[in-house]
Amino acid sequence: MGAINVIAIDGPAASGKSTVSQQVARELGFLFLDTGCMYRAVTLAAWQRGVDVMNETAVTHLAERLVIEIQPATNEEDGRHYTVLLDGQDVTWEIRTPTVDAHVSQVSSYLGVRQEMVRRQRAFGKRGQVVMVGRDIGTVVMPDAPLKLYITATAAERAHRRWQDRQNQGHTADYEAILADVERRDEIDSNREHSPLRPAADAIIIDTTGRPVEEVVAEIVGMVRPLAVNGKP
Ligand code: CDP
Repeated sequence: MGAINVIAIDGPAASGKSTVSQQVARELGFLFLDTGCMYRAVTLAAWQRGVDVMNETAVTHLAERLVIEIQPATNEEDGRHYTVLLDGQDVTWEIRTPTVDAHVSQVSSYLGVRQEMVRRQRAFGKRGQVVMVGRDIGTVVMPDAPLKLYITATAAERAHRRWQDRQNQGHTADYEAILADVERRDEIDSNREHSPLRPAADAIIIDTTGRPVEEVVAEIVGMVRPLAVNGKP
């Protein structure tokens, strides 16, 4: 294995993979791309512009035209870790609403939408020293990534974490509704025809149930540091 330039991280809904990956990227000085933001931004755009999310052709056409930018946080006081712009508008929080949660798996099941997003993700990956996180990074987007991780946890724990996030953001949150959404998205994401959610054959599986974020981050950084520095296993 050579020096690591891309770390591909996948996993089911609310597995904490974004939080962990972001901290790993920061510690290693790598760029970070949360690809879920892109599918969320397409979903929000469809919703805002009155495009029927069941209309594959219309949603695909929309996805091809949208300018989605993911930038370092422009305002850290509201708890954001990065800023997402949709055609120049700050949608960092709008893409995290239950409405988007409810439709994003439908939108991301469309081949044309995926092809467009994957093209953009690969262009980002070419910059090197990147941590990229999503559902199909190790299997489809960056199949040659030298390190692939699959971060998971039980559905109950994942739903609890998402519930806690929402509470921390000052929203009222219903645990049972969140659990149902997490399980529903896992079901659609795992069974869709194009790029279903599954670990790459050579992915290392990390079950984070009951484990604090810092511990998981330290484990991953410990795997990468010797490789990134020496370029040898
Ligand atoms: O943060 P959370 O785990 O809830 O979801 P996310 O990573 O923001 O992804 C939202 C949705 O986008 C997923 O449920 C998938 O349907 C889709 N997605 C995808 O299909 N492929 C990716 N590479 C990333 C996300």
